[in-house]
Amino acid sequence: MHEGRKINVGVLGATGTVGQRFIALLSEHPFFVLHALGASQRSAGKPYARAVTWKQTKYIPAVVREVVVQECKPECFRGCEIVFSGLDADVAGPIEEAFRRAEFAVFSNAKNHRRDPNVPLIVPLVNASHFSMIPQQRSLHNPPLQKGFIVTNANCSTTGVVIPLAALEKAFGPIESCMITTMQAISGAGYPGVPSLDIIDNIVPYIGGEEEKMEWETLKILGGVSEGEDGRKIFDMHARQPLRVSAQCNRVPVIEGHT
Ligand SMILES: NC(=O)c1ccc[n+]([C@@H]2O[C@H](COP(=O)([O-])OP(=O)(O)OC[C@H]3O[C@@H](n4cnc5c(N)ncnc54)[C@H](OP(=O)(O)O)[C@@H]3O)[C@@H](O)[C@H]2O)c1
Repeated sequence: MHEGRKINVGVLGATGTVGQRFIALLSEHPFFVLHALGASQRSAGKPYARAVTWKQTKYIPAVVREVVVQECKPECFRGCEIVFSGLDADVAGPIEEAFRRAEFAVFSNAKNHRRDPNVPLIVPLVNASHFSMIPQQRSLHNPPLQKGFIVTNANCSTTGVVIPLAALEKAFGPIESCMITTMQAISGAGYPGVPSLDIIDNIVPYIGGEEEKMEWETLKILGGVSEGEDGRKIFDMHARQPLRVSAQCNRVPVIEGHT
């Protein structure tokens, strides 16, 4: 628990779209102190304000303007207990694992570990009980980890859908099937993102990998944690009632805010 103590945190991928959001939120957070910022070798060694292409509506928080960006190596994040990752999916997998091995608590926005059978995929209002998988995740390391773990969040569209679905299941019991159509803002594609000639005055009826993500992430999040035949914990993927999810995802010319 927090107990009034401030916790030093780092941001991996601090110069990206997600990293900028982390910084905007963490710079004013009552519990967390921004202690280290990491990005690629292109940015490392520069003061944050020079490394970043800042795209938020608020100015760059004063507390990070002069912070020198580090490479995403655990030794550059000494003093942090937690790292939040907004790393590009091309590199997030091994970097986040290295931080876990070095006993950091890693909270990731990247997709790389979402399907891992020992990594919780958390939407806090829905499945905080899945944190119970963390001791098993730590025990798989040799020697077992004391503090390190990885937790991921869900795809932005999945997150918005599972909250009402969980409420419906709580009120009326397991859902058998659901059909989802999304209208997703261009912020979700990062920066520079979707080419302007593709999206101005247009709707792009395809977002690579997004529909599959919504379909299986929903099962992992709404499902429970049960015990397998070998005594290990497993995410049951909504096994108590098979749930069929069909998603159709569209990119629309809106800067922020998915529907
Ligand atoms: N955009 C969204 O709304 C959204 C929503 C949910 C999840 N996500 C996921 O979150 C992650 C970040 O998305 P984004 O849109 O913020 O991407 P982005 O704007 O392209 O930012 C990527 C970040 O990764 C860093 N990076 C790239 N290569 C690196 C390397 N080799 N070593 C260390 N750092 C490296 C970049 O640093 P440099 O600036 O130095 O290149 C940058 O800070 C992705 O995995 C994405 O799928 C995004």
